[in-house]
Amino acid sequence: MLIADTGLPDPNQTDLTKQVTIVNAIYPGSFDPITYGHLDILERATNIFDKVYITIAVNTRKSTIFTPEERTALINESISSNPWANKVETHQFTGLLVDHARSLGVKTLIRGVRQFSDYEYEFRMALMNRKLDNDVDTVFLMPREELTFVSGSLVREIAYWGGELSHFVPDNVAAALTKKYR
Ligand code: PNS
Repeated sequence: MLIADTGLPDPNQTDLTKQVTIVNAIYPGSFDPITYGHLDILERATNIFDKVYITIAVNTRKSTIFTPEERTALINESISSNPWANKVETHQFTGLLVDHARSLGVKTLIRGVRQFSDYEYEFRMALMNRKLDNDVDTVFLMPREELTFVSGSLVREIAYWGGELSHFVPDNVAAALTKKYR
């Protein structure tokens, strides 16, 4: 029902609850383990989207040091004290990302781009995903400059050699890495 002359919905006649659209997105990755770089992207995503599914790829051809369950627990522990944690759900998926997106009813993927060298791979993946499902688009976000060199593989290498991890990962992740490589 519209208010005469204004064209606006009459709040007394309109069920406003039916007009709410949840804008959601998937933030996929290996997260082996989650780093401050990932957390920075995740926080930025929660500033844009109502709901963000951080989604761990399982059974990819990459070998990982943490199991999917361990990676899930590390993510959940790392985000729990953040004010935006209620906008995030942690999931796992096997197979194609676009199939997982369809199963969640999500059309937007989020990927972090740290440096120009990331771009070629990310560009190809985004276009391939869109080819596989024309409804799916990828949004690229950039982390804080001081995190642009942080990656899961470098963090694992530092942990392997017993280096200082506190600049790159939260305490719970540093402890898990130290235990893994002990
Ligand atoms: O953190 P990563 O390892 O860069 O994440 C890559 C990931 C897991 C997002 C990507 O490899 C993926 O989506 N794998 C699932 C298979 C798939 O759908 N590939 C995309 C088609 S190009």
